[in-house]
Amino acid sequence: MKVLVVGSGGREHALCWAIAASPLCTKLYCAPGNGGIARDAECVPLAADDLDGIIGFCNDNAIDFVVVGPEGPLVAGLVDKLAAAGIMAFGPRANAAVLEGSKGFTKDLCAKYGIPTAAYGRFNNAASAKAFVAEKGAPIVVKADGLAAGKGVIMAETMDEALAAIDDIFGGRFGAAGAEVVIEEWLIGEEASFFALVDGKHALALAAAQDHKRVGDGDTGPNTGGMGAYSPAPVITDEIAAQVMERIINPTVKAMEAEGRPFRGVLFAGLMITDKGPQLIEYNTRFGDPECQVLMMRLKSDILTALIAAADGHLANFDLRWHDQPALTVVMAADGYPGEYQKGTEIRGLEKVGDDVQVFHAGTALKDGKIIATGGRVLAVTAMAETVAEAQKKAYAAIDAIDWPEGFCRRDIGWRAIGR
Ligand code: AMP
Ligand code: GLY
Repeated sequence: MKVLVVGSGGREHALCWAIAASPLCTKLYCAPGNGGIARDAECVPLAADDLDGIIGFCNDNAIDFVVVGPEGPLVAGLVDKLAAAGIMAFGPRANAAVLEGSKGFTKDLCAKYGIPTAAYGRFNNAASAKAFVAEKGAPIVVKADGLAAGKGVIMAETMDEALAAIDDIFGGRFGAAGAEVVIEEWLIGEEASFFALVDGKHALALAAAQDHKRVGDGDTGPNTGGMGAYSPAPVITDEIAAQVMERIINPTVKAMEAEGRPFRGVLFAGLMITDKGPQLIEYNTRFGDPECQVLMMRLKSDILTALIAAADGHLANFDLRWHDQPALTVVMAADGYPGEYQKGTEIRGLEKVGDDVQVFHAGTALKDGKIIATGGRVLAVTAMAETVAEAQKKAYAAIDAIDWPEGFCRRDIGWRAIGR
């Protein structure tokens, strides 16, 4: 079967690496891919948001199955367009991707169906939003409703910060994503990322993972897309995982079906494990990056058959096997990220990394046989071992073999699990 993966991040490299190992896959393409993905797939120069270009490519090349990595094309309706063209795809249609595309939609769904989440209000003007903040007080969380590349959440410790955030969002800082504001209770607890494959009616729990969102050691500095992750997440015990499925994932799947928006694809629940149990912070309708890298490393079963089962409604009797060992990934980013950073620097020494460590590429390009950094997050160095501490040691040993003076990484990925 001919498969196309859409996207160009570390997540898509991990997906390509796993899909390429499937006996079902006879030819793998990635649009647009990157310098590392080129090892596992044929890269085609089409942007992930070039929906018509992607449909044309699929038609011209008789693509059997498309796996959509990032949220942008999902929310824009790529899976709907593919379906209209008779091409099977993994990922939700636009009317279900709204779970990620509109925080207000998801909050209302949770309220209607009794799914545990932070108390909230939705506002379309600054005056009513400010009145709500005045009533609730700080600390409080202010969010732009729409997709804002992970930057649309302001954790306001004081009233002044909350009021400024409201002005900022309605002032147009996030463009159309800020036409509406969601204001939430600040949840206290430990965060985890929980993943489930969904086929419209049934959900199959994957594994949980923990991300490291802040740029600096000790969880300091600004938020990023994620600087490292490990799986499993010790905070998600079997008991908590069962609660997450029973109280959050399964009710969401049923709710979306009842609303006439059946969800197919991967549900990524951002959770806060509070003293009242797991609460939903937000949904993403795609794999996490870098969480996907550790999930793919731990997955023993054929990912492609699972993605197809989710797409065509056959997850009910499906099962997946996992390595018991933990996997850990450390992101190497360009100096300056998540602010301004330099592009075009060369990365050397990748050949010195042993076969038991996977270096998934994010922002890289292959130019004249050289690997060049082209993005903020650039590599995800991923290892599996008997313990998180050993996986961490393996990943950092590989990083120390990589020669990239213009890059950096956090040196404490996994600290929470190792400290337990
Ligand atoms: P989001 O983009 O909604 O995942 O939010 C980004 C980050 O903000 C989350 O990973 C949490 O660390 C934090 N966050 C968002 N909403 C809340 C909340 N209601 N309470 C506490 N932390 C939150
Ligand atoms: N690592 C968090 C995300 O992919 O949204």
